[in-house]
Amino acid sequence: MSESAPKAENIVWHEGHLPHAERERLLSARGCTLWFTGLSGSGKSTVASALEAELVRRGVFAYRLDGDNVRHGLNANLGFSPEDREENIRRIGEVSRLFADAGVIALTSFISPYRADRARVRALHEASGLAFLEVFVNTPIEVCESRDPKGLYKRARAGEIKGFTGIDDPYEAPESPEIELKTDQKSVEESVADLIAALERAGILPGAG
Ligand code: ADX
Repeated sequence: MSESAPKAENIVWHEGHLPHAERERLLSARGCTLWFTGLSGSGKSTVASALEAELVRRGVFAYRLDGDNVRHGLNANLGFSPEDREENIRRIGEVSRLFADAGVIALTSFISPYRADRARVRALHEASGLAFLEVFVNTPIEVCESRDPKGLYKRARAGEIKGFTGIDDPYEAPESPEIELKTDQKSVEESVADLIAALERAGILPGAG
């Protein structure tokens, strides 16, 4: 189990000069984390990427953290065992919290299959007074498997990949996500519009009216 208590001794938290509300006011920017969760091929990265582009076009600071990409760098030393998936999400939870604290809308797209790991990230944000919006990309596995953009389901079915989420590894669906997207029933543009509306409702973006 990962713990949030530091391993090192003799380290002391250093509070900055700038209160959080003052930062938001001076930068005219309100940060938060939009946490996309769902199966591989569900459309997390596609929707997050389209939302990121739309927000930045509007002049809003937004930045996407993507499972496949982060696993090339920061998390290059992690695989797909339960412990590694937990550590993957713990690190991204911390990174997204830093982004949100800096005033950025962090868009994370990770399968994040375990409920307890997502709950921990939510608690981390709430403890810092930062909004955490869980986005359940609820695409049936049959649809994800028929899309199979990377050919991984086919390889998992053939037994070439062990412990593949949804095939022989669990996915624990969110029980009360802030937002649920059905990418098999809506266009990417419609999903982006739903997310913008949710950000307005949460007071992260100014309302349309
Ligand atoms: S997580 O479970 O730790 O949250 P993450 O989102 O970072 O997963 O990475 C998932 C991506 O890795 C998938 O979209 C897929 O492309 C690839 N992948 C490779 N092996 C696996 C596996 N065993 N289970 C799930 N995804 C895998």
